[in-house]
Amino acid sequence: LGAAATDHSVGAEEKAAAWTGGLTRRSFPKGFVFGTAASAYQVEGMALKDGRGPSIWDVFAKIPGITPYANLYHYDLPEALELEYGGLLNRKVVNAFADYADFCFKTFGDRVKNWMTFNEPRVVAALGYDDGRFAPGRCTKCKAGNSATEPYIVAHHVILSHAAAVQRYRQKYQHTQKGRIGILLDFVWYEGLTNSTADQAAAQRSRDFHVGWFLHPIIYGEYPKSVQQIVKERLPKFTADEVKVVKGSIDYVGINQYTAYYARDQQPNATTVLSYSSDWHAELVYERNGVPIGPRAHSDWLYIVPWGLYKAVTYVKEKYGNPTMFLSENGMDDPGNVTIAQGVHDTTRVAYYRSYITKLKEAIDDGANCVGYFAWSLPDNFEWKLGYTSRFGLVYVDFRTLRRYPKSSAYWFRDVITGKK
Ligand code: NOJ
Repeated sequence: LGAAATDHSVGAEEKAAAWTGGLTRRSFPKGFVFGTAASAYQVEGMALKDGRGPSIWDVFAKIPGITPYANLYHYDLPEALELEYGGLLNRKVVNAFADYADFCFKTFGDRVKNWMTFNEPRVVAALGYDDGRFAPGRCTKCKAGNSATEPYIVAHHVILSHAAAVQRYRQKYQHTQKGRIGILLDFVWYEGLTNSTADQAAAQRSRDFHVGWFLHPIIYGEYPKSVQQIVKERLPKFTADEVKVVKGSIDYVGINQYTAYYARDQQPNATTVLSYSSDWHAELVYERNGVPIGPRAHSDWLYIVPWGLYKAVTYVKEKYGNPTMFLSENGMDDPGNVTIAQGVHDTTRVAYYRSYITKLKEAIDDGANCVGYFAWSLPDNFEWKLGYTSRFGLVYVDFRTLRRYPKSSAYWFRDVITGKK
């Protein structure tokens, strides 16, 4: 305004008039007052200083509009531990994890009442130590043959770390903080390619080596029989004391469910290289009689198979005593290079969520004790090995400007969960 008032250039007065809309103090009666308004609570802060007691707004504003569900480990082990002692391959990690978890319980437990210890430990062990697609990229780095042992050692340490953290929580915090604790497991549904006994057994082995590898010890105190029989002495053992800590070490389980595959029996032969993935004695296939199991999303592993979610949830119900479950991840991706305009019209994603959540409801109606659902993910994000070439979000992120654009799926999800439509 000051600049406009001292601007004597041609047209300056017209510009100033356009800016104020022709208004000046002189437009109002003599003595007319102008000011700005504020209130103490809205601008001052210092709510608890100098003896000021809380007001009703201090109490009201602290009620959370969001309830946090906090997971302690999502793939990102500190590199310092990797360098110092080999990270998850070293049993030392068990105490380190329990100490870290203890710190989190102590620091955040007054506000966080829903804890998870590990996200997708199968991915951690298999992709990190069998095929090396994920950090720390073992088996490409390590000597041939180590992928027959390292995934099992890592999984064992993860299970013990999980159990040690749960023990700390239960012994030191749960009775006062009144929260609950569990683990997040990814679960691809495996369907026998044919009804043959061999293919049905291959599908069951695949489920054992995938979700059973973790859930079986946690529920029943031992690895699945098929895993024990095939892996034999390469499979670490739980001591009797460890079984006591591991068995029953969840208040709930999160299931990350995206996709399903067919499994066909594939027994090893003389040329089979021993590894975690060849231990399944199963080949995974994505079509039956030339018909794909479902349309593919952008990621090469993600086939859209809503009935797989129903079967996965029902399997956990039937095989593992219907524990309290959350559907803790579910979603699909588009390619990273879709434009904003293309990205926000994500009709395929809306259809994906509609069909999968419908199947979840069917499973619940049929008795599954599933008490929550989380879509993956809110914003587009860094998809690990795929970097920014995959978009899983309900909200499009322009990775250059970081601006967010809600997609149709965000509005769809909002309408479902608010019940407004
Ligand atoms: C599994 C993982 O928990 C998450 O990090 C990943 O981005 C999604 N599923 C999609 O692959």
